[in-house]
Amino acid sequence: MKKRAVITGVHAWVPDYILDNKELETMVDTNDEWITSRTGIKERRILKGENQGTSVIGTEAVKGLLEKTNTNPEEIDLIICATVTPDMLFPATANIVADNVGAKNSYSFDISAACSGFLYALTIASKFIETGAHKKVIVIGADKMSSIVNYQDRTTCIIFGDGGGAVLLEPTEESLGIMDSLLHTDGSGADFLHMRAGGSRKPATLETVKNREHSVFQEGSTVFKFAVTKMADVSAEIMKRNQLDAKDVAWLVPHQANKRIIDATANRMGIGPEKVMLNIEKYGNTTAGTLPLCLWDYESQLKKGDNLILAAFGGGFTWGAIYLKWGYDPQR
Ligand code: UT7
Repeated sequence: MKKRAVITGVHAWVPDYILDNKELETMVDTNDEWITSRTGIKERRILKGENQGTSVIGTEAVKGLLEKTNTNPEEIDLIICATVTPDMLFPATANIVADNVGAKNSYSFDISAACSGFLYALTIASKFIETGAHKKVIVIGADKMSSIVNYQDRTTCIIFGDGGGAVLLEPTEESLGIMDSLLHTDGSGADFLHMRAGGSRKPATLETVKNREHSVFQEGSTVFKFAVTKMADVSAEIMKRNQLDAKDVAWLVPHQANKRIIDATANRMGIGPEKVMLNIEKYGNTTAGTLPLCLWDYESQLKKGDNLILAAFGGGFTWGAIYLKWGYDPQR
């Protein structure tokens, strides 16, 4: 019998501070009507305070996950953290989380695939389970986007927020869990969505700070065009190669970048809005955090055996989709 990796728990965490559209109106030349109609976002969470990095989000999510699934941290074999806002360039944020939660027997590493990071990390993690190498793997998707957003740039600061979540993956011989994964990269997309300075090509100088090159640059309309096409294409493709019709799909779990991109993807799949997970109005775009945040928000509505399509598009460009069968009923 083929061994599969199944999600046996999900937990997420967002900071308390709410940055709503009204407050953004006092910071840049924008308005609630524009933001809501163009993106679907009403508010986003911001992690405030000294020395508060993405590991805070990851640690809170994993602590809650361990408690909820009644898992001893010492049983964890591997922790993978998808993020583009690591606490530091090195060591990996996953290592910091592992230490914070007492995962003493685990090794850990980060994955950098921007908004598709959770899909990449989940795919990698599932392979370690399928081969029998590991029995308990945690996948985190988390970002503190406020640390790399220029709050004088109205084209980006209205989109992003802080938050994330984590899932526990375990082996199963039932027909459940990660059934298929389809991932893509197009490096030429770097021109349209990137953070110019702070890496090895352009280390920090007074000049780079003055020019605000340590924050997200996005050519919004170009990224939008790619996102609409690629996220819809990849979702349709994974359905086709698994012989799934719209009626077979219980939920679309889309990356929350822009409600218009989500609607286009659902339309292409032939799926009605009642089957689309949506929380962009509360959290905005938390990059690698959006998919686990959706699973956490909708966990109580998910049933064992439900077919879920997770889909994302983001910086890189990176994009992809995962087809999975949900592993448990709500009232565990
Ligand atoms: O998650 C990672 C991948 N990222 C994405 O998927 C994001 C993809 N892109 C988008 O979601 C959209 O392109 C944005 C939400 C970023 C922008 O929406 P848009 O409908 O593509 O607007 P636009 O960039 O074409 O700008 C339209 C107009 C411009 O004014 P003019 O030139 O027509 O006079 C902008 O200057 O809207 C203006 N504008 C704003 N107005 C009020 C841009 N940002 C704002 C703003 N408030 N915040």
